[in-house]
Amino acid sequence: MIDQGVLYLLRKESPFFDSPIHGLKHWQTVERNAHYLASFNNADIEVLSYFAYFHDCMRENEGRDKGHGPRAAVFAKQHRDLIPLNNIQFKQLTDACKGHTYGERPDCITINTCWDADRLDLLRVGIIPKAEYLYNKEAKRIADENDFLHLNEYEVMPKFGKLNEAPAKTKKVVFDVDHTLIDEKGESVRPGIIELLKSLKDNGIELAVWTASFKARSEPILRNLGLIEYFSE
Ligand SMILES: [Fe+2]
Repeated sequence: MIDQGVLYLLRKESPFFDSPIHGLKHWQTVERNAHYLASFNNADIEVLSYFAYFHDCMRENEGRDKGHGPRAAVFAKQHRDLIPLNNIQFKQLTDACKGHTYGERPDCITINTCWDADRLDLLRVGIIPKAEYLYNKEAKRIADENDFLHLNEYEVMPKFGKLNEAPAKTKKVVFDVDHTLIDEKGESVRPGIIELLKSLKDNGIELAVWTASFKARSEPILRNLGLIEYFSE
């Protein structure tokens, strides 16, 4: 498991965070596969974990998104200060992300293990991983013997917490519209509201509106007063 702050960042920024194909579920499986393979080699499990969570985080679609690996590397660099890896580990992470779909095999057991761990989860999209596209001996064995279920018995190494540990829940604040966000006539925003909404949003709080009025009335008012952009619901 990676740092909770990084997980929070990914939850906020990754378009497919909730996708079963390229989101959190897949990342957790890649991490588990990677740690399993690392029990047979000297790959760096910290880099493996961060690769698992970053490599698909900047996908723009769930098909052939050719640039998603390099974009993930750029995203990691933009948030370097949040990622608790040393510079050598961080370079391995970004190289692994950058090349994980189209890159040449490097001479690095950690990067090769990252890529094998990702490929061992291809069954989720109906592709049977082939040994010829895998690097680790144990990964090849799994593919050759069709022993993929064996991976389910394994858990992420304890240093990173339990595989199924739930990520921190997002906090949400619900605002009433009339007399709270706006005045009684719907003509102006009440004092301090914009500053309050900005501050809550900057602190990662999800915002929602509730009203006893009709949506057809409230929505245009919130839009005209520049408030709608603050709310997700
Ligand atoms: Fe992946």
